[in-house]
Amino acid sequence: MRVRKALLHDATNIYELVNSLSHDGTLLRRVFAEICENVRDFTVAESDAGAFLGCGALHLYGPHLAEVRSIVVRPEAKGQGVGAKLLAAILAESEEHGIGCVCLFTRIPDFFFRYGFREVTDRAALPDKIYKDCQNCPRIYHCDEIAMARGEVPRVSILGTREKVENLVQIGA
Ligand SMILES: CC(C)(COP(=O)(O)OP(=O)(O)OC[C@H]1O[C@@H](n2cnc3c(N)ncnc32)[C@H](O)[C@@H]1OP(=O)(O)O)[C@@H](O)C(=O)NCCC(=O)NCCS
Repeated sequence: MRVRKALLHDATNIYELVNSLSHDGTLLRRVFAEICENVRDFTVAESDAGAFLGCGALHLYGPHLAEVRSIVVRPEAKGQGVGAKLLAAILAESEEHGIGCVCLFTRIPDFFFRYGFREVTDRAALPDKIYKDCQNCPRIYHCDEIAMARGEVPRVSILGTREKVENLVQIGA
């Protein structure tokens, strides 16, 4: 098995796998055009024979913050270290960029605890993430995801201020 940066020809596999887990809110639904536009964010895992096994993305907000998104392994390939390799590659990429903090929202915090992520109980401390995704999320009134970060949560933001998202966070709590 190997991990590599995604190419445009991976977009269909990524689209189908990510959206296969969006119906119950495990992953955010992504439209095909969005996958193509952001395909350079993605890392993919493939078998020695070249079969697509899974993917994950690093979204860059700025030098202060990045986010792990859409990390998923095909059901038949789970439990073989694919997810761990994808996450390691994504974190290495964030380090190459010199980014101090990587965040994510998840229902499976125990997986991410293993790799140095810690819970962020004050979601408003991640205004960029809230501003980008939560305000348009159908689950804003019943969010069951845990906010997590690896590295020191930044004091700066780029998309919206803490004050701007605080009401959204309260609604979602
Ligand atoms: C989470 C996911 C990516 C893990 O991929 P995977 O290839 O099965 O994981 P790995 O085999 O690399 O597991 C690495 C380690 O994490 C552990 N682990 C795997 N899934 C876990 C989970 N849900 N909770 C806690 N630990 C988990 C494994 O036991 C393994 O531990 P070990 O090193 O002590 O053996 C995969 O289960 C998946 O696609 N889940 C559905 C999508 C999802 O929920 N993504 C996260 C969205 S934020």
